[in-house]
Amino acid sequence: MEKITSLAKRRGFVFQSSEIYGGQNGAWDYGPLGIELKNRIAGAWWKEMTQLNDDIVGLDAAILMHPRTWEASGHVENFTDPLVDCKKCKARFRADMIPEENLAAKKCPECGGELTDTRKFNLMFKTHIGPAEDTASIIYLRPETAQGIYVNYKNIIQSNRMKIPFGIAQIGKAFRNEIVTKNFIFRTCEFEQMEMQFFVKPGSDDEWFNEWKKRRWAYYDRLGVKMDHLRWHQHDKDELAHYAKDAYDIQYLFPMGWRELEGVHNRTNYDLTRHTQFSGKDMQYIDQDNNNERYIPYIIETSAGLTRNVLMILCDAYDEEQVADKGNDDDWRTVLRFHPSLAPVTVAVLPLMKKDGLAELAQDIRRELKEDFATDYDQAGAIGRRYRRQDEAGTPFCVTVDYQSKEDNTVTLRFRDSMEQIRVPKQELTARLRQEIKEYKRIK
Ligand code: GAP
Repeated sequence: MEKITSLAKRRGFVFQSSEIYGGQNGAWDYGPLGIELKNRIAGAWWKEMTQLNDDIVGLDAAILMHPRTWEASGHVENFTDPLVDCKKCKARFRADMIPEENLAAKKCPECGGELTDTRKFNLMFKTHIGPAEDTASIIYLRPETAQGIYVNYKNIIQSNRMKIPFGIAQIGKAFRNEIVTKNFIFRTCEFEQMEMQFFVKPGSDDEWFNEWKKRRWAYYDRLGVKMDHLRWHQHDKDELAHYAKDAYDIQYLFPMGWRELEGVHNRTNYDLTRHTQFSGKDMQYIDQDNNNERYIPYIIETSAGLTRNVLMILCDAYDEEQVADKGNDDDWRTVLRFHPSLAPVTVAVLPLMKKDGLAELAQDIRRELKEDFATDYDQAGAIGRRYRRQDEAGTPFCVTVDYQSKEDNTVTLRFRDSMEQIRVPKQELTARLRQEIKEYKRIK
């Protein structure tokens, strides 16, 4: 993880938030390559949900919601972690994350000092809206994006004539006052989620739950993720969230071990029933194709962390490879083997020399490629070094312009993974790159 954190900073993927002030725990900034990667991961998910499924539409709800939302959802009452403090070294722990014997003996796992009693700590960030800071002005930063979907589900049925079964997808920020925020961007206080809520008829929920498990697994396979680094974990009774009838996590083998990447949950009709009670509004679906049958739909949720997906993709892509045997640093390269559709830069254009018109020719080629691909241009240093820089940024293709290019209008196309180089006519570059992206298969 240290290597990935350091590469992420060095190459402008992720920076510590407010670094000049010593950093802000639980918050990170996405640099030029990081925002491109994050946007592409979000784009792949959005396409998967809304473009490839006729029965799923999108939504972008506000982060600030009426505070009754969180009473109805059960978050005010139940969204808590058990917390203990060390009276001596002042370290703070999630009680369920320290060894049981320490908890039983009230002994700090770090300094051996005395621990406080376990108390419940609500993870929602609370603030005030308006000029008066009284109880009537309390407002929360949403701890999940899902509730914005539930409170809009009837609007969407009416405005978009959706019929059950159908889904609503949303990507957005969520906030949790996490007690433990280590492991880089894995668990943070400010993060992004990609959530899809699928509304189904009660009784068909088990079938849809299994269907969405299958679809989410297939999605990661298509993204080119190492499938032997993914596994399912079913929640047992004491792990289930207050709203869930059944829940499975897709776990990824991160450098610190198997951890949750995404959850697939059967939330039953819990949320919509509670919103009916708390808002007084009828949240039933009226099935006009079935004698106006009325029911509160069940909800199958797929809930993935976008920022956690960024970390997963970085870990999954990271590789160190020996490429020579000369006994120096150049023997090794660090390479990010991103799927080309996720890579922040798709193609880098490199003139072999700055002089003799090669730089101008390379710039012309870049101008053309820009229309279709995310490009970079680099003319600084030896060509081998430049390839290494692109490997480290995960750029799948490099186009090198040399003296022969001036003669016969061909360029060198270099592949990141195999380091193979082929000669391609300039006018065929765009089509060739499109084909390579479409047919990409990870070799390592
Ligand atoms: N709406 C259901 C829900 O929020 P969750 O299991 O609490 O369920 C879903 O969260 C996903 O959101 C997780 O699988 C994880 O990827 C991401 N996530 C949750 N808390 C996070 C945090 N503090 N930092 C980064 N990602 C987080």
